Amino acid sequence: MTKLAVHNPKKNSFFKNLENYFDQYCKRTGIHGFQYFCEHGRSPFERYWWLFVLLLSFGACIYSVYWTYQKWERSPVIVNFASRGTPIYKIPFPAITICPETKLASEKFNYTKMMHKKEDGIPLSREEDIYFEYMSMICGNENFVTSENQTFPDEFFDVVDHLKPEFQITNCSFFLSSSINCKPLFIPVLTEEGVCYSFNILNRSEIFRDTVVSLKLIHCRVPYKDYHVVSQKVTHWSIEGGYSAYPGINLYPYRAYLSGISKGLTLTIFTPYKDLDYTCRGPLQGYRVLLYTPMTVPRPSQKYFRLPLDQSVVASVDPIMIKTSSSIAKYHARKRGCYFHNERYLKYFKVYTSNNCKLECVTNYTLYLCDCVSYFMPSMWF
Ligand SMILES: *[C@@H]1O[C@H](CO)[C@@H](O)[C@H](O)[C@H]1NC(C)=O
Ligand SMILES: *[C@@H]1O[C@H](CO)[C@@H](O)[C@H](O)[C@H]1NC(C)=O
Ligand SMILES: *[C@@H]1O[C@H](CO)[C@@H](O)[C@H](O)[C@H]1NC(C)=O
Ligand SMILES: *[C@@H]1O[C@H](CO)[C@@H](O)[C@H](O)[C@H]1NC(C)=O
Ligand SMILES: *[C@@H]1O[C@H](CO)[C@@H](O)[C@H](O)[C@H]1NC(C)=O
Repeated sequence: MTKLAVHNPKKNSFFKNLENYFDQYCKRTGIHGFQYFCEHGRSPFERYWWLFVLLLSFGACIYSVYWTYQKWERSPVIVNFASRGTPIYKIPFPAITICPETKLASEKFNYTKMMHKKEDGIPLSREEDIYFEYMSMICGNENFVTSENQTFPDEFFDVVDHLKPEFQITNCSFFLSSSINCKPLFIPVLTEEGVCYSFNILNRSEIFRDTVVSLKLIHCRVPYKDYHVVSQKVTHWSIEGGYSAYPGINLYPYRAYLSGISKGLTLTIFTPYKDLDYTCRGPLQGYRVLLYTPMTVPRPSQKYFRLPLDQSVVASVDPIMIKTSSSIAKYHARKRGCYFHNERYLKYFKVYTSNNCKLECVTNYTLYLCDCVSYFMPSMWF
């Protein structure tokens, strides 16, 4: 048997050519290192050494390119704190919500007295019983809600509205107009803490979708009746555009023109001593105060600072405005880590803010678990 040596002259010349070209490339290239391992006069050890060094640096290049790419993948948006001063009149004054810890006007309903009656086993009248149940919800004593009913009827809102203590503010000044009557500027809103009062908040028709607010009264859960209704319209302001160049002074939402205590909002709140009911909310009386952006629904159980009785509290706001260039809109929201305000559709809200989204999320989940929502959550009834 003869062994057949397969000889392919075409292939052979192809490799020869390749070698030739590579040799020529090595001699002329400007890249350091190549010329050494092609030079035939060098010892094999030297040539392999140069090959090794070249491969090593090539590997290091790929590695660093890979890591830069990975880093870009993770956070493609570079936040550049080129801090530039912005005049304070270019941003709205914060919305302020004040929530009394006193939830009842005691001349209308004495919660402590009812509690004592219940403890002593004295039967309550039907009205007292219902009031006690509803107010236990607001007072945070849910374990006193013993009704066999799964949900409260709409009467609940009427009772909360009827029993709310009066909100008495005096000596109020805002911007340059001192001792104005601030009472109409603080509009009642219904929150998880009962009735609160908000200043500089947007009208409910500008926060909630029309399907939430424009139904018949009885179907309109949140916002309830004439709660959260602001008479001023937003005309020359938008979240992304800010205030237009329109030279008006009394635009809504309000803005401050200068910083400092005398240019901010100052007020005195009066709490009747007889309204203090330590059974309802425990020992901490006073007020909760929230500062936030005007298009957000207040959640006074989450972030607030306390305003104790018989004390004066000063809060200063140090706003941080982060401007996003529109060119990052082409990145996916997951990559850039934020939404533009009209990018994330919310079922209940016209405007996306992180807080509104969280409220909607908890509403969705409550609806899914219980087939009903809590009284302060937006809802649509069809
Ligand atoms: C409410 O009831 C308590 C206990 O019976 C009583 O001490 C208090 O004075 C009552 N408050 C008012 C305003 O009537
Ligand atoms: C429970 O439901 C019944 C029937 O709808 C109603 O008459 C009653 O007042 C409700 N009770 C409470 C505490 O809401
Ligand atoms: C409120 O104004 C009245 C006069 O209108 C004044 O006597 C009182 O001291 C003021 N109170 C505060 C806390 O500034
Ligand atoms: C505020 O909202 C209510 C309820 O949606 C609406 O009827 C009213 O016209 C709105 N007010 C303004 C000034 O837009
Ligand atoms: C809530 O549910 C609706 C549909 O049922 C959905 O369109 C919306 O995105 C959900 N909201 C959130 C914050 O997940």
